[in-house]
Amino acid sequence: MKVRKAVIPAAGLGTRMLPATKTVPKEMLPLVDKPVIQYIIEEAVASGIEDILIVTNRAKSAMDDYFDYYPELETRLNQAGKEAELTQVRRAADLANIFYVRQKETKGLGHAIWRAKRFVGEEPFAVLLGDDIMRAKKPVTLQLVEAAEKYDASAVGVQRVATEAISKYSSVKISPLEERIFSISDMNEKPAPSEMFSNYAILGRYVLTAKIFDLLEHLRPGYGGEIQLTDGLRELCFQDHMVAVDFEGQRYDTGNLNGFLEATIDFALDHPATGAWLKQFLQEKAAHL
Ligand code: G1P
Repeated sequence: MKVRKAVIPAAGLGTRMLPATKTVPKEMLPLVDKPVIQYIIEEAVASGIEDILIVTNRAKSAMDDYFDYYPELETRLNQAGKEAELTQVRRAADLANIFYVRQKETKGLGHAIWRAKRFVGEEPFAVLLGDDIMRAKKPVTLQLVEAAEKYDASAVGVQRVATEAISKYSSVKISPLEERIFSISDMNEKPAPSEMFSNYAILGRYVLTAKIFDLLEHLRPGYGGEIQLTDGLRELCFQDHMVAVDFEGQRYDTGNLNGFLEATIDFALDHPATGAWLKQFLQEKAAHL
């Protein structure tokens, strides 16, 4: 199983990050010096992905612009001898082959993924949710690709979450296969704690077979009146083998304010331009809190 394509759903309205996201797509908010979406694309590329489809909507054209060349700016940077900036600006545009499709109607994550049917064709493909940023030694998508190849199965990324938090996620019913890898036999979207299958929640990364598209096409609206990816995955795990990978790495939900701030601080501490300064700043700040 070779995974060459990825789909990034990025058509949400960003209602948890208003008012900033009224006109700036939440995927374009900067984490230190790069927009959120660039981290996701870099993870896909580092996992061997060559072609990436971003599912957007009418308010997100800043994303297409960001991954394009910008001749006037590049000429100016060149003339000013700003080589490092020029390299960074160019690099974003040359990261991958990026394609776009619009969701047109906000009908849920499952519907957004279904829009990728033509792009994907018959190949297995990765899904990286535009809100979920990972900080990991080995890219999380690569961890999933390896498990999918090993078991010739679809794979989803999971981690344990607190029982009180499970209703923000999908919960999976699992049995162990090997260290950090489980077989999945059922799942549900945003269960109440009394209805959850386990504390393992799906967290934003998937490797799927193209069979998911026919399943999504026939789904009825589920949780929140939306077409849910989880409902399609549930059907898929009944029909074919699906594994859960308890991935190694830290996941941040940048679609809400606290998660966004956590990611900003951790990435800024790791960044050579800001790390040492921020550490000192935080230590001084903490001493006076
Ligand atoms: C989505 C999925 C959910 C998943 C979560 C975290 O929910 O529907 O199954 O657990 O992402 O990746 P959302 O955060 O869009 O409400």
